[in-house]
Formats: sequence, structure tokens, C-alpha cells
Amino acid sequence: SRSLSLAVIPGDGIGPEVVAQGLKVLTAVLPQDVKLETTEFDLGAGRWHRTGETLPDADLEALKGHDAILLGAIGDPSVPSGVLERGLLLKLRFAFDHYVNLRPSKLFPNTATPLAGRPEIDFVVVREGTEGPYTGNGGSLRTGTPAEVATEVSLNTAYGVERVVRDAYARADSRPRKKLTLVHKNNVLVYAGHLWKNIFDRVGREYPQVTTDYLHVDAATIFFVTQPDRFDVIVTDNLFGDILTDLAAAVTGGIGLAASANINPDRTFPSMFEPVHGSAPDIAGQGKADPTATVLSVALLLRHLGFDAEAARIEEAVAADLAGRDGTAASARTTDEIGDALAVRVAS
Ligand code: NAD
Ligand code: IPM
Ligand code: MN
Repeated sequence: SRSLSLAVIPGDGIGPEVVAQGLKVLTAVLPQDVKLETTEFDLGAGRWHRTGETLPDADLEALKGHDAILLGAIGDPSVPSGVLERGLLLKLRFAFDHYVNLRPSKLFPNTATPLAGRPEIDFVVVREGTEGPYTGNGGSLRTGTPAEVATEVSLNTAYGVERVVRDAYARADSRPRKKLTLVHKNNVLVYAGHLWKNIFDRVGREYPQVTTDYLHVDAATIFFVTQPDRFDVIVTDNLFGDILTDLAAAVTGGIGLAASANINPDRTFPSMFEPVHGSAPDIAGQGKADPTATVLSVALLLRHLGFDAEAARIEEAVAADLAGRDGTAASARTTDEIGDALAVRVAS
């Protein structure tokens, strides 16, 4: 019989609320012969307040032993900004070499979009996950004085860029439209920009069947709104990918629907699946969070582990659930009710 050993980090704010629904749907969709073992990790604001720890080595070691990680969200107004984001979430992405941060965007039928004309939207952002301005490569001088100076250096290596660009080409090649767009800002960020563009062009010669395009990130934000159907696969750096995927979520039904996968393609370490959104302190504890993004992240998790049919069942259930919504962004249902409805759909 098969087994699935899952590490679960519910985290902060709405994290535990949405993760509970993700696990509910996972349990409902898995075949009887699959033994699901979940281990919950107490990481986030609560742990930090009690012990001062964000991600101790013992937890990191324990996480390593699982097939995958499901994370809700971390971050809390009671913790200084950056402590948990860097000390927990980014530490996990770096330690487990999650260099492919996969963020699909699809406009499901009937889903509310602020865009006129309901364009077809079905693209995936391949966001680099281990480099860029996220590496903590910076510092502050004369901190807190009128003469303060702060730097935040973006780190880009040929090794790091080439591996994510290769992954993006392979993904584009496997999709019907076979189109890959590089998004950067090489008119200003010339050093990193040229590294990305040179590698993008060089690897592209191995994929003559893939159509390529390049956009500066500012122009890309225009086309996300005016012509989102021009995108198939997008490859971009860590920070641009972060910003673009919140925008992508906003035009495809909202942040409550956007799923993501932090993938270690080498499978040396467990990959981690999480909604694109954060801990949403403004709605935490009220049952208002849409758990769909987490449920779709569970589908990405299942596909990563080879449970393709189960992943497809979840995506079909979400499409059916969205088709039954009234087309407005706000749903009258609670977090729990949406989770229940999706669990019923995947089980039938
Ligand atoms: P956020 O994504 O938490 O919230 C932005 C807005 O989206 C809020 O109005 C929120 O209510 C809404 N929203 C988010 N998820 C929703 C859902 N499932 N259903 C309905 N509405 C939803 O972003 P923020 O406010 O910038 O950040 C809050 C905290 O979360 C910060 O500490 C931040 O660092 C952290 N954060 C964590 C992650 C993560 O764990 N992966 C991601 C982003 C932000
Ligand atoms: C995300 C979040 C994180 C990021 C933060 C919380 C570190 O915004 O997952 O999109 O910037 O990657
Ligand atoms: Mn983000």
C-alpha cells in the first residue's frame, strides 16, 4: 500500500483556518489504500513569543524526513516585520533549495475578474526562489540617524538563473502554446538583467519550438491587466515574481484562489506547498478566509507526488464550486463551509 508523509505548518492568522480545509479535502480525495501520516509543526508567531525560536535545526531536520510540506501562512502584527518571514519562510525555501516557485494563474469560468471582456487567462509564473534581493545581502549604516544608509543587494548567479530558466523552458515546451516570457528590468538593472537575458537566449537555442518574449517588469504589469492572454509561461526573479503573482491573483478571482508550489526539482529535499496569500490579520479568526488557494495548493502537492488523478479531481471540484458562486468576490459561506463543499465534491 502507498503512503504519504506530510509535514504541516499551519502558521499564523488565517493559516490554521485554511490548512484545516486543505487537509479535509486531501483526506477526502485520497484513495483508501493510501496511508496519510501528518505531522504538525508548531512554527510561527506563537512559538517565537514562547521561545524566541523561528526555525531551529531540530525542526528543520524533522521536516526533511517528509514527502512534502503544507504551509498555511506566517507573519503576525505582534512580531517585528521580517523576523518570521525571513527566519522561517525564506529559511525553509533556501534550506530546501526551492528554486522553482511555481504560481499558476487561471481564470475559471464565472469567477469574478475586474478585467473588461473576460480574457482567457491561463498562465504560470516560474518565480526564482532562492536568490535575488531575498538573500539578506545588505545592511544598514548609521541606523536610525538622519544619515542612515541602507543597501539590499540582489544576488544573481549563473548557476541559479540557468537552472530556473531551464525549468521554465521545459514547462513551456510541455504546454500547447509553447511560449515563454522573460520578465526583468534590464534597462536599469543592467548587471542582473544581462545575466538573465543572456542565459534566457542561450538556453532558448535548445528549444527552437518555444516562442520567446521579453518584457520589462513595469510593462508586464500593464499587460497583466490589458492583455493577460498573451502569457503562457513567465520566468522572472524572486521579487518581480512576488509582486506579479499578487497582481495575477487579483485579476483571476482574487488572492483567496491563488496557489503556489515551492519546488526542489532534484527531490533532495521536500517541496513545500502554500497559498500565495499571507496570514491576513485583518480577517483572521472570523471564518472569512477563502480556503480555495490552499486546496489548490494541495492539488499541486498531489501532482508533485504523482497523484495526478486526485489532483485533477480537486481542480474539477474547485471549478464546479466556483461556477456555483454568484460572481461577486465576497462569498456568503464561511471558510469551513467552502472546505466542506469541496470535500463533498472530491469524494463523490
Ligand atoms: P495578505 O495576503 O495576508 O493579505 C492581503 C489582503 O488579502 C488582506 O485584505 C487579506 O484579508 C486578503 N486575503 C488574504 N488571504 C485571503 C483569503 N484566503 N481569503 C480572503 N481574503 C484574503 O498580505 P499582507 O497583509 O501584506 O501580509 C500579512 C502578513 O502575512 C504579513 O506578516 C506578511 O509578511 C505575511 N505574508 C506571509 C506569506 C506567507 O506565509 N507565504 C505571504 C504573504 C504575506
Ligand atoms: C509570498 C510572500 C513572501 C515572499 C514573504 C512573506 C516572505 O509574500 O510568499 O509571496 O515575499 O515571497
Ligand atoms: Mn507575496
